[in-house]
Amino acid sequence: MSALPGSVRIVEVGARDGLQNEKAIIPSATKIELIDRLSATGLRTIEATSFVSPQWIPQLADAAEVYAGITRRPGVTYPVLVPNLQGYERARAVGVEEIAVFTAASEAFNRKNINASIDESIERFAPVLERAPADGVKVRGYVSTVLGCPYQGEVPLGDVVHVARRLHELGCYEVSLGDTIGIGTPAKARAMLRAVAAEVPLSALAVHFHDTRGQALANILACLEEGVAVVDSAVSGTGGCPYARGATGNVASEDVVYMLEGMDIATGIDLPALIETGLWLSAQLGRETSSRVARASQSADA
Ligand code: HMG
Ligand code: MG
Repeated sequence: MSALPGSVRIVEVGARDGLQNEKAIIPSATKIELIDRLSATGLRTIEATSFVSPQWIPQLADAAEVYAGITRRPGVTYPVLVPNLQGYERARAVGVEEIAVFTAASEAFNRKNINASIDESIERFAPVLERAPADGVKVRGYVSTVLGCPYQGEVPLGDVVHVARRLHELGCYEVSLGDTIGIGTPAKARAMLRAVAAEVPLSALAVHFHDTRGQALANILACLEEGVAVVDSAVSGTGGCPYARGATGNVASEDVVYMLEGMDIATGIDLPALIETGLWLSAQLGRETSSRVARASQSADA
């Protein structure tokens, strides 16, 4: 176990992971307002949208319009998901400067999510990884199903390590390890991170927990104790993948920030502003926030 990090960078994924999983199509203006509000909270990385096939994710078919509509704040990066060269070109046409490519450690999940094997998915985005450096575009990578798959069940650790190492070797500056269906527990999360960190530098790793079974904060803490210092989360606890049966929201950013700041780990984020943004978003979505911290702040105000 190494010392806890002094600071953590939160990668806010609500506008992408959150809104891709909404049944209703959210108006582009609401998405733009969400990202602009998030930009004012001190977050440094805000995933904005996805340039995937609109037939597969109609919720984010307005990616170009949303990206073009946001007010880009200096010091904040706005990565977007890109599955292939077509997505890359759409993203570049509106001035995207950072992208994230994505695959999984499970063949079965990749088939459902991106209609490809792991190797085929990497072949699809390999040309993107070749082009990006010349365009000055930074590339993040995601590995999904690192602690279990909704279709194949167990995912061998060796498969997670193998895919994470390939993404890093292909040029991803950071690899985010996703518990897509929120099935992991702290000891498993720790073992998974240790295994990956034996092959990919810890400074190039991030963790991405969905909170389906209420384990996400505990899993994050276990990974912080292993030395990870980048955590993905979604304001108001939105999120999930339409092609991952049984997946619910990401861990709520408000809850992660509350835990970190309470442990004297700096995030640079204004928690009251983040809570307000999450409450605003849940009002737009017409339901209660999943953030426990936001709910506690509401009852304290009542
Ligand atoms: P496919 O159907 O196999 O692709 O989909 P294709 O190449 O045969 O193309 C089919 C049609 O899609 C064609 O149009 C293409 O032009 C179009 P048509 O000729 O039929 O009119 N197309 C596109 N259009 C716009 N932008 C593009 C694009 N690519 C093809 N980029 C594909 C393959 C990968 C495209 C599809 O499966 C797809 O887009 N999947 C996305 C699924 C997705 O976004 N899932 C959620 C994100 S992953 C996630 O949430 C997990 C994460 O949070 C981490 C975790 O929690 O673990 C990151
Ligand atoms: Mg996710």
